[in-house]
Amino acid sequence: MQIINRPSEVSLICSHAKGTIGLVPTMGALHEGHLSLVRKAREMCDFVIVSDFVNPHQFGEGEDYDKYPRVPDKDAALCEKEGADILFAPSAADMYPRGFSTWVEVKGLTDILEGEIRPIHFRGVTTVCLKLFNITRCGKAFFGQKDFQQVCVIRKMTKELNLPLDIVRCPIVRDPDGLAKSSRNAYMTFGERERALCISRAMFAARRAVENGCRAVEEIEKTALEEIMKSRPVAVDYVTVRDPETLMPAENAAGSVLLAAVRYENVRLIDNILLY
Ligand code: PAJ
Repeated sequence: MQIINRPSEVSLICSHAKGTIGLVPTMGALHEGHLSLVRKAREMCDFVIVSDFVNPHQFGEGEDYDKYPRVPDKDAALCEKEGADILFAPSAADMYPRGFSTWVEVKGLTDILEGEIRPIHFRGVTTVCLKLFNITRCGKAFFGQKDFQQVCVIRKMTKELNLPLDIVRCPIVRDPDGLAKSSRNAYMTFGERERALCISRAMFAARRAVENGCRAVEEIEKTALEEIMKSRPVAVDYVTVRDPETLMPAENAAGSVLLAAVRYENVRLIDNILLY
């Protein structure tokens, strides 16, 4: 595996790569969730690139850009073990040279849910992903369902800008007790982690309800919220049942997605589940 910092160098290598190029965009601090994407890319593609870049432009003011975990050596060892061909770890100066002023924005879909609470977040995500797609010329890019809205936004951008690549959505990887894996889980105290288990419990309870024939959106939302409130969160940003493509409020719980964002003292967590 080669570790490369310069975008132009990655572009050059990719222009000579044979077969399908698979890209796994990450911000590092890799865990089993990220590695499941690398494995899927390895399975489906001939040449696999993992990008490791804490993108400053997707963090709002007062968010955790400075304290976001950075463990480049550990990330490199994990990518090597999973058989990645390239680990691309650019600097912010190389990705955003002085005077950078070009942004790509998906309107509407980014004004709701995460976008409502993190106004500049998705503009940063779409811009960096478009840059990564162009640098690597990947034929497939792998994203986790963990960030459900992010995949919807990236798919919409890809479709509307006629980008020649497939977006592959991979399932959420959870700890054995149900908590969705996240680099931000490291911010939690032991007590918060115990309380946060209510979120995945709420997700599974909602799925069970739909499996048992419940179709009423309000009922699913109420049950999920009640479960989450047992954990005494600092705030619940949303617990809502949506259409899995448009993310507009769903009319029928079957075939929808339940999404939640919950704050505790030291962390803000998101989770979701498809209700089929
Ligand atoms: P990051 O949070 O590092 O996540 C990188 C990818 O891993 C995303 O597609 C995310 O959905 C996926 N992922 C994270 N936790 C997961 C889990 N428990 N199970 C499955 N997949 C999981 O998302 C970003 O970085 C950034 O916004 C990025 C797309 C790299 C743009 O900067």
